[in-house]
Amino acid sequence: MDASLAGKVALVVGASRGVGRAYALGLAAAGAQVVAVARRVMPVEGRTTSLKEVMEAGRGHGPPILGLGADVSRKEDVQRVVDEALAHFGRIDILLYNAMAAGLSDALEVPDEHWERVLTMNVKVPYSFIQRVAPQMMARRSGAIILMSSKTSLAVPHDDPGHKGLLAYGTSKAGLNRIATYFSEELKPYNIAVNVLSPGMVRELAGGKTPTPEQFAPPVLYLARQTAETMTGQWRNTTDYGVNWP
Ligand SMILES: NC(=O)c1ccc[n+]([C@@H]2O[C@H](COP(=O)([O-])OP(=O)(O)OC[C@H]3O[C@@H](n4cnc5c(N)ncnc54)[C@H](OP(=O)(O)O)[C@@H]3O)[C@@H](O)[C@H]2O)c1
Repeated sequence: MDASLAGKVALVVGASRGVGRAYALGLAAAGAQVVAVARRVMPVEGRTTSLKEVMEAGRGHGPPILGLGADVSRKEDVQRVVDEALAHFGRIDILLYNAMAAGLSDALEVPDEHWERVLTMNVKVPYSFIQRVAPQMMARRSGAIILMSSKTSLAVPHDDPGHKGLLAYGTSKAGLNRIATYFSEELKPYNIAVNVLSPGMVRELAGGKTPTPEQFAPPVLYLARQTAETMTGQWRNTTDYGVNWP
C-alpha cells in the first residue's frame, strides 16, 4: 500500500500482458483502483494472459481491478472506455498509455498500412485519451499522465542493432515524446504531471519470464505520484533505478 496512491483511479491502457499487466497489478497493490484495458478479455488457448487473468491475479492484492475489453484503435472504443471508467469511479487520476503497435520493415519499404497502424496506436490514440481524460483532471487541478516510449525514439547511432527495421515505430515514439512535451507545458498550470517512461528491453530484463510488478512497477508508481510541481515533461528509463525507485 502506498499512501499517496491509495484510492486513486488509474486507467491503464494495454494491460493484458507484458509490462502493462505488471503496471496494472503494481498500481492495484499500491492501493489504486485500476481500470485495465485491452482487446483480449478471456484467455486464449496457448496464451497465458488476458484481462480475466489480470483481474484474478490482482485479487486479494488491493482493490478489485476493473477489466474493460476494447480495441482502442477505434475512436468509439476510446470514448467508451473513458465514459465507463468515469461512470464507475467518478474520476481518472492517473492515465498510463502502454498499448502500442510495432512491426519490422526496411526503411525504404514501409507499407502504408504499417505506417497507418503504428502512427494510429502510438500517436493518435494516446492523444485521443489525453484529450478525453485531461479535462476532468484540469477541473480538479490534479493528475498524472504516463506515456510509454522507447529508446528507438531518440537520436542514436545507426549501428544500434536493436533499432534496425523500426523506422515507423521509432518515428511514432518520437512523436509520442513530443505529445508529452507539449501537454506537460499546457497542463502545468493545472498541476498535471505528464512524463514519459521507456521500459528498456523487457524480455532481457525479465529473464524471458512474465514481467513482475515487483520488478517493473516501481518507475510507474514513482511517475504516478508526480505533480506538475514535482516533475513534469521528463523522460525516464526503467533501468535508471531498477527496483529502487524513490
Ligand atoms: N517490450 C519491450 O522490450 C519494449 C521496449 C521499449 C518500449 N516498449 C514499450 O512499452 C510498452 C509495452 O510493451 P510490451 O512489449 O509489454 O507490449 P505488448 O506485450 O505488445 O502489450 C501491449 C498491450 O497493449 C494491448 N493492446 C495492443 N493493441 C491494443 C488495442 N488496439 N486496443 C487495446 N489494447 C491493445 C495488448 O493487449 P491485447 O493484445 O489483448 O489487446 C497488451 O496488453 C509499449 O508502449 C512499447 O512500445 C517495450
